[in-house]
Amino acid sequence: MNLLNKSITIKSVTISNRLVMPPMATSKAANGDVTGQLIDYYDEKSKGGYIGLIITEHHYVSKDGMASEGQVSISRDEDVAGLKKIADVIHKNGSKVIAQINHAGSSASQDLTGYEPISASPIINVGFSAKTKLIPHEMDQNDIRRVVKSFADAAKRVKEAGYDGVQIHSAHGYLLNQFYSPLGNKRLDEYGGTIDGRIKIHLEIIRAIREVVGDDFLLSLRLGASDYMEGGSTIEDGVYASKKFQEAGIDLLDISGGYNGFIRKDTNEPGWFADATLAIKKEISIPLILTGGVTDVKDAEHLLEEGKADFIGIGRAIFKDSKWAEKAME
Ligand SMILES: Cc1cc2nc3c(=O)[nH]c(=O)nc-3n(C[C@H](O)[C@H](O)[C@H](O)COP(=O)(O)O)c2cc1C
Repeated sequence: MNLLNKSITIKSVTISNRLVMPPMATSKAANGDVTGQLIDYYDEKSKGGYIGLIITEHHYVSKDGMASEGQVSISRDEDVAGLKKIADVIHKNGSKVIAQINHAGSSASQDLTGYEPISASPIINVGFSAKTKLIPHEMDQNDIRRVVKSFADAAKRVKEAGYDGVQIHSAHGYLLNQFYSPLGNKRLDEYGGTIDGRIKIHLEIIRAIREVVGDDFLLSLRLGASDYMEGGSTIEDGVYASKKFQEAGIDLLDISGGYNGFIRKDTNEPGWFADATLAIKKEISIPLILTGGVTDVKDAEHLLEEGKADFIGIGRAIFKDSKWAEKAME
């Protein structure tokens, strides 16, 4: 266990090891508010500080982007106080913490939000996170500006709440994945078409966030690099986009799958998005997280040794067993 135990400093944040708990929705919030149950959950997961970095579950940046009941809100200034309690408990236990911010786009349900779902194009979501059969409203330039601002406002709140960084969610078929994927984006304006068009909104969000959080705050992006679906985004898209995200100021890239979701239908190999991370790592210098299918610490170490990632995310194994990291790291 040499590489997994190695600390790393990104900007001014020193992370004690290469183990990441990836964002996993818990449905423990009440009307978007952080609950005692949620704080206890993160306390239990971070006890002992065995996990270097915890990325907390997706938070909705605006009500119309809410994905599911029990999801945590970061859409209101009042949310900062509750979120601070999560950051504090994780820090007290010795781990670093980043919050993931998200807009569900066409995966939001009107029944839940009270708003018409929005997306890059008026296409019913065919992806993993699809929950509604409603045709979403195609976003105009004003909608795009509003969403960019919602992400920036949310990131500012994450910083105010004392987190070490913020993560933009662009995976698993949610709004930014809808822009990134040719399956969700049929736009004819500058926000569609080529990969440059399909990541224009991402770059605007990255710049807008940087402006409000400053240069030193950790900025991560979770990219569903490839849809692994016919007509969808490809690993080549992922390589190109990752380079652009690095140039725009992303400090930590987190690679997952796109419209297919976080699993692969064609392989059970631990670290199943390694085909994407290997290709991306060749072209970028910022650290990268690989998540998917890892349940054994030996596999995590092996993936690091093979140069497939700088961090390994362990999701469901930690979800099921809060002592997983303690057992693994000792
Ligand atoms: C219950 C559950 C909730 C999840 N919620 C999120 C989420 O909020 N944001 C996200 O990016 N991924 C989410 N994921 C995906 C995980 O972060 C991770 O990528 C996935 O579980 C694959 O890793 P694993 O095989 O180690 O579990 C979720 C997964 C599960 C099982």
